[in-house]
Amino acid sequence: MFNSTPDTSTNHIAIDPGTSQTRMYAIDAGLLFNEPSLGAQDKNEAESGTSAVKAWGEDALELVSGEPDRYVLVRASNIDPSTGNAMNAPMLRYFLRKIRRNGLIASNFRTMLALPSGFGNAEIDRLINTCRVSGASKILIADRAAASSIGAQIERTNFDNPVLVDIGASGTELCGYSAGELVFHRQLPIGGDALDQALKAGMQNEYDMLIHEGAAREIKHRIGAASLQEDQPAKAASCQLVGRDAVSGRIRNFRVGSDTVHQMLLPSLNELLDSINEACMSLPAALGESLHRNGLRLTGGGAMLLHLADTLATALQAPVAATERPLTATVRGAAVMLQQTSARTHSAASDTQKMVG
Ligand SMILES: Nc1ncnc2c1ncn2[C@@H]1O[C@H](COP(=O)(O)OP(=O)(O)OP(=O)(O)O)[C@@H](O)[C@H]1O
Ligand SMILES: [Mg+2]
Repeated sequence: MFNSTPDTSTNHIAIDPGTSQTRMYAIDAGLLFNEPSLGAQDKNEAESGTSAVKAWGEDALELVSGEPDRYVLVRASNIDPSTGNAMNAPMLRYFLRKIRRNGLIASNFRTMLALPSGFGNAEIDRLINTCRVSGASKILIADRAAASSIGAQIERTNFDNPVLVDIGASGTELCGYSAGELVFHRQLPIGGDALDQALKAGMQNEYDMLIHEGAAREIKHRIGAASLQEDQPAKAASCQLVGRDAVSGRIRNFRVGSDTVHQMLLPSLNELLDSINEACMSLPAALGESLHRNGLRLTGGGAMLLHLADTLATALQAPVAATERPLTATVRGAAVMLQQTSARTHSAASDTQKMVG
């Protein structure tokens, strides 16, 4: 999905190659690009071990919906059996080619890539090389947690020692700050994907309905809730879905209620809440005190689950508030970091940013 075309192409772009969505942002043009980090893989070629991803993002979705027997969707974070590497670099190359073809970014653009601390050097090198061959004249790496915090405007909070929780697709990051410095960082191996998997499994176990994870995610977005609150009902009481009957093999329509969905989400949701709670209990004393006094900020797409902030507040016995525009906090933060770096001399790059090209 492209944003409306800016008057002139921009030459400073931030990139967040997230597990579920890849986003690109420019301070002067806004959100330029926002497509799923998914590829369309040819099933036959994949079985024979060749590199089989034919398209990425929305092009991939189109390919799979046109020929569902031939193509299957894969995440860029999956390992490509033909190379033994994750597929983030080929995906990024495809997306940069697409966005350049559309005239949205200038040649010789400068970029800030927001990457999680778990990415190895070889993966980072592949991404840097991809940016370089795609025309980038300057490539910087931002720590993803730092970028999310800036995008969530954590530095503008009017209290000391803010704590931020970024709930993404594959995982959750918890960051604690003191005097503007990141002093506590935990990566939790549970995010929104776990809720989708729980819904998919629940539909099969309780109703013999086979649905794919994309359908489970859609149900979660439409009627999922972290708690059922009578005074603030879920967005809709139920929704219609299409799946395959596991017994007859037939495709059938099915209606599922928000209370059922909530019950199916509950075990994974509790796992997520427990792991956030546990990480909060490991915070250094000053941060723990600040958490109970001032609360924590939630960001990332997972923060958009209905009533999640209230439910987490009850679990933590502390105030919790979602940030504005949680889906784009990381990429907007990376764009701010790029702007700040460009305004400084290159030698002043901070230790959360690495100048590489
Ligand atoms: N309205 C919504 N309600 C509930 N969950 C949502 C909603 N919108 C997005 N999500 C969930 O947010 C998650 C994706 O969040 P986000 O886009 O921040 O992840 P990402 O940056 O691609 O992944 P990661 O940070 O793990 O690499 C998915 O699990 C998605 O289902
Ligand atoms: Mg993210």
